[in-house]
Amino acid sequence: MSGPQRAARRVVVTQHVPAAAVDLLRGAGLDVLAREEDTPMTAAELRAAAADADGLVTLLTDRVDAALLAAAPRLSVVANVAVGFDNVDVPAATAAGVAVCNTPGVLDDATADLTMALLLATARRVPEADAFLRAGRYTHWKLEQEQLGSDVTGRRLGIFGLGKIGRAVARRASRGFDMDVVYVSGHRLPPDQEAELGVRWVEMDELLATSDFVSVHAPLTAQTHHAVDAAALARMKRTAILVNTSRGPVVDEAALAEALAAGTIAGAGLDVYEHEPSVHPGLLQQRERVVLLPHVGSATASTRSEMSRLAATSVLQVLAGERPGTLVNHAVLDEDGGLRPRTGAA
Ligand code: GLV
Repeated sequence: MSGPQRAARRVVVTQHVPAAAVDLLRGAGLDVLAREEDTPMTAAELRAAAADADGLVTLLTDRVDAALLAAAPRLSVVANVAVGFDNVDVPAATAAGVAVCNTPGVLDDATADLTMALLLATARRVPEADAFLRAGRYTHWKLEQEQLGSDVTGRRLGIFGLGKIGRAVARRASRGFDMDVVYVSGHRLPPDQEAELGVRWVEMDELLATSDFVSVHAPLTAQTHHAVDAAALARMKRTAILVNTSRGPVVDEAALAEALAAGTIAGAGLDVYEHEPSVHPGLLQQRERVVLLPHVGSATASTRSEMSRLAATSVLQVLAGERPGTLVNHAVLDEDGGLRPRTGAA
């Protein structure tokens, strides 16, 4: 079915999402094409699926580029089930008059919790200790155990990117672990908010040179790509641990593998990778003080479900002519703050 004679507007859900989100779209009378597969379509398949779609619900493994937008003349909204939206060509969407939405807020706590889990697991060598025991090597307790780790409480945490997730991490670190939290971010908080959060602005050089833990929470942009490169790693303490739950390419992964092998820094807790799902072989070889997770930052059942519902709600809002709170590209709005009708739409 295509063209103006079609009764209901069509929404394509590109990969499996929890049923409640699909029900929300269907309940609003939309014609929903919900793929059940949990792997992305090829670019050609995605273009074909989007050809007569009014809305798309995408995952971070879908590439929404100019070619896709050009092949989808009716499209008014892309709702990405993720807070990050580096998989979407936002300028191209704005130029095409397509609203882009993400899922901020609902995953802050889950991602901050996981960040602390990675930080603690790396510092206290939790996976190594677990593997040691399972291998039958825990034969007796001794004072200098094989898994002597680093202190967390009272140490300095440097946060790179103090958005909502960075702030949730700062709260946990400063209130829960009495850490000395310093930060670098695109925007500096007003002094009262810094005091309330227990954080202090420093220059990147100081953050790198003085932090016991550096945690990356910056979105992936042209400016943040490889922000943590060989030079940045060389400035860090030899005892420091790098944590990344943001996006892999913010860190130069080959440089990180080299820095770990050379002992330039002591460890890394990673949830994201430069060429996901591939992981640099040099990282996989490191077994001590390197903890590698498969991009599970927001992976609690309720958080993933909330993210999907939020994306579906954003689609409904845009298709109803409302402005969603999750809109990423405000430039798509007209001078009255409304959404312009899509140029190619029937
Ligand atoms: C996950 O990585 C997200 O951006 O939500």
